[in-house]
Amino acid sequence: MPTIDLPVLDPQQASQAEAPFHSTGTGRRVYVETYGCQMNVSDSEIVLGVLHQSGYERADSVEEADVVLLNTCAIRDNAEKKIHERLRHLNFFKKKREDMVIGVLGCMAERLRKDLLDKDVVDIVVGPDEYRRVPELVAGAQGGDKGIAVKLSRVETYDDIEPLRTEGISAWVSIMRGCDKFCTYCVVPFTRGRERSRSLPLITDELKRLWDTGFKEVTLLGQNVDSYRDEDNNADFADLLIASARAVPNMRIRYTTSHPQDMSDRVIEAMGEYDNICKYIHLPFQSGSDRILELMNRTYTVERYLDRIRKIREVMPDCALSTDVITGFCTETEEDHQATLDLMRTVRYDGAYMFAYSPRDNTKAYKWGDDVPDEVKKRRLDEVIALQNEIAAEINQGEIGRTHEVLVEGPSKRNASEWKGRSDTNKTVIFPHDDVRGYVVGDLVKVRIDRSTSATLFGELV
Ligand code: 5AD
Ligand code: SF4
Repeated sequence: MPTIDLPVLDPQQASQAEAPFHSTGTGRRVYVETYGCQMNVSDSEIVLGVLHQSGYERADSVEEADVVLLNTCAIRDNAEKKIHERLRHLNFFKKKREDMVIGVLGCMAERLRKDLLDKDVVDIVVGPDEYRRVPELVAGAQGGDKGIAVKLSRVETYDDIEPLRTEGISAWVSIMRGCDKFCTYCVVPFTRGRERSRSLPLITDELKRLWDTGFKEVTLLGQNVDSYRDEDNNADFADLLIASARAVPNMRIRYTTSHPQDMSDRVIEAMGEYDNICKYIHLPFQSGSDRILELMNRTYTVERYLDRIRKIREVMPDCALSTDVITGFCTETEEDHQATLDLMRTVRYDGAYMFAYSPRDNTKAYKWGDDVPDEVKKRRLDEVIALQNEIAAEINQGEIGRTHEVLVEGPSKRNASEWKGRSDTNKTVIFPHDDVRGYVVGDLVKVRIDRSTSATLFGELV
């Protein structure tokens, strides 16, 4: 897959690109709104880090901002529809404040490129590998020039950029970028480019800094973490997990996303060995039919998938599992759909992200058409969701009477006298606030579960 090379800056902006930009933003305020996956949340923090270095300050709302950036997702059509809707809304702000700069970042910027720039409301369009140029493009837009930067890179990892994180106890740390898997339905390899990994020592240094500044939990991010590879240090993902667990022994370590073909025994064994690696795995299966998996280019069979589940449960009997499922992929029959439901009954996931297939331009499957009618996709999706809810409710019912160590996140949204946190197994746990013990956000508390729903556990402090 060649890199896509599209430097579409005009000559005036190109000359600005060579100038120092550290002071372009003095005092100006930027609001970044994030859509889509956790990688985008992490990328938004990188963009804010880049802008901060150039003198911009973070705004908390569109109303307070001089610059509004939408970090977008292109994975399904409805994700893109949301952005078009938001841009129409932002147009009202822009009419009142003509000097406001509006930018589209992320996967949709990479996919639609100049088509987005043709919209009056959009001043800049920046793809996932060009975030270093955001200050320069914003400065150009302030001078009245629209700008676009959508070149993909084989090397960019933003290793030297300090992300501007929102305060909290939980941090996202991207360990790699891009994806080389080319599942036939997926736009990500086109919008995020080739796979490349950050260096292991730089990641563990970042984890130590995060611990020193008060973070209690990190999630290592990659589209396919199991293909993480640091050639200079001869390290794979299992090595990175072990090095991370040792570098910050009291930090909770999570990661996502795993790939059933690439997930090694060593990764599973490393998880079992270190208490601070959370016992939770997100392992998408997508379809329970070997024929559909082959068409999807998922590179594994149901048998291989179940072998990974067997290994996980052998090493960590209480490990929680979640997954991604697509219904109505092209040519999916009722029999294929039943195989998906069967796999869900066999594995019994704690959680699932479930989607109807959405054809994406440029992908291999796009050319095969979209032959499963919308109402069939939707009905199959409803069946998948109903089954998952039933299974999750049963699993959570089985949690009653058990005690979990919970990382305190803060007051629950529904009721301020109750607090919420997450278990090692990534379940949301609600418990009464306790002034006497005076615990604070970031503490680990023990909660005995006495009630549950398919999504939440409730309990008392012990
Ligand atoms: N249609 C529906 N779902 C998709 N996903 C990726 N591409 C598509 C698509 N074209 C889902 C997969 C993936 C998750 C992030 O999004 O399940 O694992
Ligand atoms: Fe898309 Fe497949 Fe890569 Fe996941 S592994 S990002 S589904 S191409």
